[in-house]
Amino acid sequence: MKKIGILFGQEDTFPWAFIDRVNQKIKEQGIKNMMAEAVSIDAVEQGKSDEYVVIIDRISQDVPFYRAYLKNAAITGTAVINNPFWWSADEKFFNNALAEKVGVPVPKTFILPTSQHPENTDGNSFRNLKYPFDWDRMFDTVGFPAYMKPHDGGGWKSVYRVENAEDLWTKHGETENLVMMLQEEIQFEEYFRCYVLGTDNVHIMQYEPRNPHHLRYVIDGPEVDKKILDLVEKYCIKLNKALGYDFNTVEFAVRDGVPYAIDFCNPAPDADIHSVGKDNFEWIVENAANLAIAKAKTYKKGKMNLTWGTFVSDQFKAPVAKKPAAKKPTTRKPAAKKTTKAKK
Ligand SMILES: Nc1ncnc2c1ncn2[C@@H]1O[C@H](COP(=O)(O)OP(=O)(O)O)[C@@H](O)[C@H]1O
Ligand SMILES: [Mg+2]
Repeated sequence: MKKIGILFGQEDTFPWAFIDRVNQKIKEQGIKNMMAEAVSIDAVEQGKSDEYVVIIDRISQDVPFYRAYLKNAAITGTAVINNPFWWSADEKFFNNALAEKVGVPVPKTFILPTSQHPENTDGNSFRNLKYPFDWDRMFDTVGFPAYMKPHDGGGWKSVYRVENAEDLWTKHGETENLVMMLQEEIQFEEYFRCYVLGTDNVHIMQYEPRNPHHLRYVIDGPEVDKKILDLVEKYCIKLNKALGYDFNTVEFAVRDGVPYAIDFCNPAPDADIHSVGKDNFEWIVENAANLAIAKAKTYKKGKMNLTWGTFVSDQFKAPVAKKPAAKKPTTRKPAAKKTTKAKK
């Protein structure tokens, strides 16, 4: 039996709708030996975990035990969505650098040392930092107002808009052990939030982050220039191919017709019907179900079934084989004797 599982926490609409939709499709399409259920975990032993061919992970960012369980499942072949190794490795600052590399516009961004010494460190642990730090260079590049936000995290937690240097230092002082990014503000004409599944299936949603939470997903918004929508879709695919996320949201702020990627490290993005609305919910349930079934169908027993982005996979391409050198003859032919005829 090929089992598709979903691992989740407090959310209560998407997981059940996902399970129902997958099982309904399996029935309608007459697929044999496949089913979906909520993941059920008992004793977890190293290298042994072959119950699920696919697991959608919605919660391991908050439960480290689950992250370890998922890595163990992955090595036995489970296609974990999203790749738990990559999710443990990347963060927003690195992802911005990767965006620059693949040609997706992002706001100018610096990373700041934490305002407090992390546990078990003291001044000596920071002897490699220049003092004073070159704040002026950062301020000149980024300008004010600016955004200051954690390099790792989500859900608008500890996101600050700062007016000037004093304001920045005061707020930075509140962030304790968080590693913060200082980022150029994009004063936007339009804002989009996009679901991206399987790295290239994009659903663009108009979004107004300045509205109260329940009114952020815009319904019947103004017409948007097709050129911008095409760019947004293209950038979504570029980013997710490079990162290797199968299930992500990407946010863009559009300034002067250029979409800047603001937030694209959301491997367990909000999918609650009460915030995303009925139509977006329907899209994510339907398309996530199709993705999970497709992954279960292509699952290969005894192999790793994870998605890796081009950032990783391009570095491990087999080197181009050198042509073998032409075989040297074992016996040497004597050079043909030149017969120089005496000139007459
Ligand atoms: N550089 C920026 N320019 C303009 N607005 C921003 C910028 N960074 C963040 N914001 C605003 O703050 C919100 C939260 O920041 P975001 O980067 O999405 O963090 P989170 O991962 O916590 O959602 C965004 O939806 C956007 O409205
Ligand atoms: Mg966000």
